[in-house]
Amino acid sequence: MISIGKVTSKLPNRVHPQAFGTHLQQEYNLPSVFYMDVYPLEKMPMIMVVDPEMCSDLSAAISADPMMYKSPRFHDFVSPLAGPKNMLVSEGAEWKRQRAAFNPGFSVQHVMEQVPNFLNIFEEYIQALDGHAVRNEVFRLEEDVTKLAVDVIGKMVLDHDFNSFKGENKFVSALRNILSWMEDSQSLNPFHRKHPIRPWAFKYYKRQMDNYIGAIIDERFAARETTGSSTKRKRTGVDLALQAYLKESGQDIESESAKLDPAFKKDIIDNMLILVFAGHDTTASTICYIYHELSKHPEALAKVRREMDEVFGTGTGALEQIRDDPYIINKCTYANAIVKETLRLWPPGSTVRTGRPDYFIKDPDTGEMLPTEGCQIWPILHVMHRSPRIWGPDANAFNPERFLPPQSETIPPNAYRPFEKGPRNCIGQELALVELRLVLALTIREYDIRAAFDELDKLDGDGSIWATYGASKTGPQECYGDRMYQVLMAAAKPSEGMPARIRRRDWKGGS
Ligand code: HEM
Repeated sequence: MISIGKVTSKLPNRVHPQAFGTHLQQEYNLPSVFYMDVYPLEKMPMIMVVDPEMCSDLSAAISADPMMYKSPRFHDFVSPLAGPKNMLVSEGAEWKRQRAAFNPGFSVQHVMEQVPNFLNIFEEYIQALDGHAVRNEVFRLEEDVTKLAVDVIGKMVLDHDFNSFKGENKFVSALRNILSWMEDSQSLNPFHRKHPIRPWAFKYYKRQMDNYIGAIIDERFAARETTGSSTKRKRTGVDLALQAYLKESGQDIESESAKLDPAFKKDIIDNMLILVFAGHDTTASTICYIYHELSKHPEALAKVRREMDEVFGTGTGALEQIRDDPYIINKCTYANAIVKETLRLWPPGSTVRTGRPDYFIKDPDTGEMLPTEGCQIWPILHVMHRSPRIWGPDANAFNPERFLPPQSETIPPNAYRPFEKGPRNCIGQELALVELRLVLALTIREYDIRAAFDELDKLDGDGSIWATYGASKTGPQECYGDRMYQVLMAAAKPSEGMPARIRRRDWKGGS
């Protein structure tokens, strides 16, 4: 029996539970599956699963009927943002219907077709970065990359411009405010856990987001009525949802008398919210960690810059070439390896499932069948992605080469799963991977970006959600020797929103 208090005292107070799991497993050399009783933080004990084949068995069980449902704790976090029946938490036939409606909107081909529509957002992002460089100031990078990721997902699923870089957007402010009200799942303070204002704050901001998205849906529906066919073949998320609804309710898509039922409208709103929500903060956090890892690994940084020179030409910007031919981004194979390696070390999301009386986990070492009833099952990616048993003695090191042949051929098939696998895998993974490569292609030769935790004090009271986050400034401040550990705020985000410094580079003579 290991005392949780003994372990937590060695880690920063707000560190993400997944890093805590890795610490536990490595410090105590725990097996591929272990139980953890985390009462009173969690009512149900946790089963941590860190073996690739066990994770694969679980994915198979998830797709079977009857299924392994998502943990009630997952609902606690997601429902205030996007209602109780959105695609991330729905199950069974309801989930199948939703997923089938949205899948075409996230195919590789559709994502690539959308890339030119994202480029003006990237230009605004670059201007924002440039502003920080010119003003020579410390800033929280997470705030800027969040604007980028929210605007991209808004364009992708709603064909809407949130214009986050142009000024305050009501929807984006409500989204950030809801995040700031989320429970700190590690807090033992009963007032914090059952904060009396929290349910009201959630309702207030959720209503603002509902109204904003509802107005966009009404517009799209009305546009369909006046033209009779304008949404016909569009694959934007909102149009796909409207098309699926009209088909399901037996209404003619061309008919001007078609009606949008309020219950269905609510369903579309919640699914749009989950797409915007799940589609932005995971990607935004990963962008921060890409810059961070590259700033710590000059040899990888130099290599990716050389690759950009080779693909786009020495001293020539990538933007116009990508506009002409978005598929050119696929030539950036080293950039792709960097993205993958960053997601290995810093997975921003994972799944947690509820055990069942008829589902047992087979211990790969002993063959013992382990019960899951009354427990939550967590395939804990952070532990598996850093396991020396799978990745070798340098498992904790940043080494993009492991995702290039021949090394990549030795990765066990089920060991790498930042987007999870099986039917409930991430619907937005192609979009995320393209977006992350675009970030590298459009900024990595132009700027040096590094974390600046030594200047964190300058950001005190800056009005961001991080200023009120409440991370303790005493006690351990690092995890794995890194001040930029992950914290749990919906996705796993970089602590303090990555205080950063940026510098323009003289790169036109070649990187
Ligand atoms: C680096 C970026 C991303 C990572 C690492 C990531 C990771 C994940 C993971 C691990 C899951 C499985 C969750 C579970 O089963 O409980 C998931 C599901 C999901 N993701 Fe992502 N995601 C990313 C980006 C995106 C984007 C850009 C979108 C936007 C569309 C998105 C939308 C979703 C949705 C809707 C689901 C639920 C799918 C379903 O249950 O059918 N994600 N993601």
